[in-house]
Amino acid sequence: MTTEKLARIRAEMPVTENAVYLNTGTSGPLAKQTIATLTAENTRELMEGRADMTGFARLKETKAALRRAFADLTGATPAEIALTHHTTEGMNIVAHGLNFQPGDEVITTTLEHEGGLLPLYVLKQRRGITIKTVDLMDTADDGEIVHRLETAISPRTRLILFSHVAWNTGQRLPLAEISAMARRHNVLTLVDAAQSVGAIPLDLPASGVDFYAMPGQKWLCGIEGTGALYIRRERLGMLSPTFIGYASLEDSSMFDYDGAFMLAAGARRFEVGTVDRPGMHAMLANLRWLADDIGWEWIFERISAMATQTFNALNSLSGVTVITPKAGQSGLVTFNLPGYDPARAMTKLLQQNIIIRFLPYPYALRVSTGFYNTEADIDRLLGALEDILSHSPDDLPDFIPPK
Ligand SMILES: Cc1ncc(COP(=O)(O)O)c(C=O)c1O
Repeated sequence: MTTEKLARIRAEMPVTENAVYLNTGTSGPLAKQTIATLTAENTRELMEGRADMTGFARLKETKAALRRAFADLTGATPAEIALTHHTTEGMNIVAHGLNFQPGDEVITTTLEHEGGLLPLYVLKQRRGITIKTVDLMDTADDGEIVHRLETAISPRTRLILFSHVAWNTGQRLPLAEISAMARRHNVLTLVDAAQSVGAIPLDLPASGVDFYAMPGQKWLCGIEGTGALYIRRERLGMLSPTFIGYASLEDSSMFDYDGAFMLAAGARRFEVGTVDRPGMHAMLANLRWLADDIGWEWIFERISAMATQTFNALNSLSGVTVITPKAGQSGLVTFNLPGYDPARAMTKLLQQNIIIRFLPYPYALRVSTGFYNTEADIDRLLGALEDILSHSPDDLPDFIPPK
């Protein structure tokens, strides 16, 4: 059953058959039917034009369906979902939408990606906030994580910004526990979901998180330039729009020339203007394929099982140090081959069509295990690592960074 299902999935995602594809944490593999929808919609626009009224009506329906698909996946309501272009946009909407005052504090962690950090740096320059960074690199203990974050809270703390799954170590942070603790202190939570949505089960309302920023192109295997932001219903009124346009209004005619306007009732008020229409249709087709044809439960179980298998296999290989603290918490496994340069090792693997990435911090190799991967993929990776380890570190090819 699983073998047949995998064969069907892999035939639908050609890169998984053309390569050992282990880099979903950067961008997930595309499915043929996603690209078929994209091509069909582009062709339709090419032949029939882009400005007809049926096209606008269809787009409105598709955007509503896309919000519903993100809501179904996360346990939210469609009114709590804004469509964005990537994780980073969601992080910026919240960071710049909260009315920070000089001296307000934001707590963050050493596990963050710049997509979450850079908006804070601008707030520091522009609004005079203080950023407190809590070191979580050396602990994967949920209680200790919550304790360290709680200890950093002061009367000026307004927000805790953290990743649900750390992009560098692959560890999963205790979302519900951190959110509950933050709420007890009247502090908001903004979560970078780049490595969690589509990889692990989510129930955002139950988790208590306030804001959750998601990409479409990674674990959801969607096209680039798609994403969504969850805004807990009670928190909507706290956020001011930084960018605003016709798409933010309840109805695009709901403004006057005296400066009055009516924002959309739900989170879609943070959508601004014209979008990539074929991309929206393709993303919807993609999410429906994942939800209806493959099934989220199966996807989450498979990702975790493949990550556990990879974690155990790497741990049993002498010459490998696994950095990811626990097995199967996400689809990411980070490791090192001490004495061997990660960027050069990655280059060697790429030469054999084994697609993984190196990380700058910690300087290490990172594997992403997708629901489409097989045991044979992991065996290929292990064989290639054994081969590297059987040679001198100097035998590795140079890494030439892209210009
Ligand atoms: C944890 C994390 N946050 C943010 C990003 C940036 O993602 P996006 O391009 O969707 O903004 C990435 C992706 O590389 C990531 O891993």
